[in-house]
Amino acid sequence: AERNQQLRERLLELKKEKNAIILAHYYQRDEIQEVADFRGDSFLLAQKAAETDADVIVFCGVHFMGESAKILAPDKTVIIPDERAGCPMADMVNVEGLRELKRKHPDATVVTYINSSAEIKAETDICCTSANAVKVIQSLDTDEIIWVPDKNLGHYVSQFTDKKMILWEGYCNTHDMLTVKDVEEMKAKYPNAEFVVHPECRPEVIEIADFVGSTTGILKYCKESECQEFIVGTEDGTGYQLRKDSPNKKFHFATKFLVCPNMKVNNLKKLVRSLEDMKPQIYVPPHIAEKAKLSLQSMLEVK
Ligand code: 13P
Ligand code: SF4
Repeated sequence: AERNQQLRERLLELKKEKNAIILAHYYQRDEIQEVADFRGDSFLLAQKAAETDADVIVFCGVHFMGESAKILAPDKTVIIPDERAGCPMADMVNVEGLRELKRKHPDATVVTYINSSAEIKAETDICCTSANAVKVIQSLDTDEIIWVPDKNLGHYVSQFTDKKMILWEGYCNTHDMLTVKDVEEMKAKYPNAEFVVHPECRPEVIEIADFVGSTTGILKYCKESECQEFIVGTEDGTGYQLRKDSPNKKFHFATKFLVCPNMKVNNLKKLVRSLEDMKPQIYVPPHIAEKAKLSLQSMLEVK
């Protein structure tokens, strides 16, 4: 505890010295969320990165999030606590495969989940996050959509549109692991609880949910619901904000495996060290960054 107190004090000094802002995703360890200037889901964090007037952005999340921040704010220095924090789903799609799909479907609009590399975003018409995916799809004047990389989110979104959606076969290792059996066991154990789920989960799991939404959607729903008890079908880091918002409500994570190991690679010590050393920094080659920025900006413009 004393060690963490020293780290927090050092962090405050460094933040001032470097005019830095600390952004943290809701899946980060509590010790990081506690010291963040701003906590958010993928969408809110991208928006914040685009708007901040700090000189340095320390992005606590996974690699693609830091990369998106750098693309949206190219003049800022973007640091991440550990460059090994990647997203396996983002790595499930490659540029060659996507180009081949585009050749097969030349009239399709490419919609890419923000959980993707800068190279993939550079091949994309418009990005989305789980918070705005339905809005993004409905804003498009096209009959055919190439959707990368999350098949589960793609399947969920396809229920809200008549457009033809060609889905890439990617998925989130963490959310895709949750099964109907897991949820049914929890429902038997906590019969009065509502089941809330992230759309990165499998279609049959989403089917039995009381509420489906992005991290921010889930937080808002649980805060406002009359219900006092929830079975939560998303990453366990969200417990920090859920309990902060509603200290008297009960939150049961649907399994103990709802933990993204990549998100947990970051910790307070690495965060302080990264700002101290000003590394690792995110670099995106300019010819890729310019194209990728258009697809991210198009997303931010969807109302
Ligand atoms: P959101 O932050 O959009 O809810 O996405 C969840 C996620 O898996 C981030 O990696
Ligand atoms: Fe990627 Fe899933 Fe981890 Fe999010 S929770 S970073 S989608 S592996």
